[in-house]
Amino acid sequence: MKEATVRVFRGDSNGGQTVDYRVPIAPGMVVLDALHHIQGNLAPDLAVRWNCKAGKCGSCSAEVNGRPRLTCKTRMDDLPQYRHRRFLELSCQP
Ligand code: FES
Repeated sequence: MKEATVRVFRGDSNGGQTVDYRVPIAPGMVVLDALHHIQGNLAPDLAVRWNCKAGKCGSCSAEVNGRPRLTCKTRMDDLPQYRHRRFLELSCQP
């Protein structure tokens, strides 16, 4: 199974840092699915905001590889590959 490294900026009002997570990639998977995998399996304290998962509400907005995106509509397959694995940088500012 393919894997991606998802680099998530985590922090609070005092600052933060990036943390890398290895996530298995399934066909049709979107960035929000990857975040749910991280939350459910690797970092239960990760807060993930979303509502419709249909590109309507905007709740899942985040910066993905330097660009503002809806994580529920951004397919992992559409992200660029670096070396032999997918790499995704993600940050959410409160
Ligand atoms: S969850 Fe509503 S736009 Fe993504």
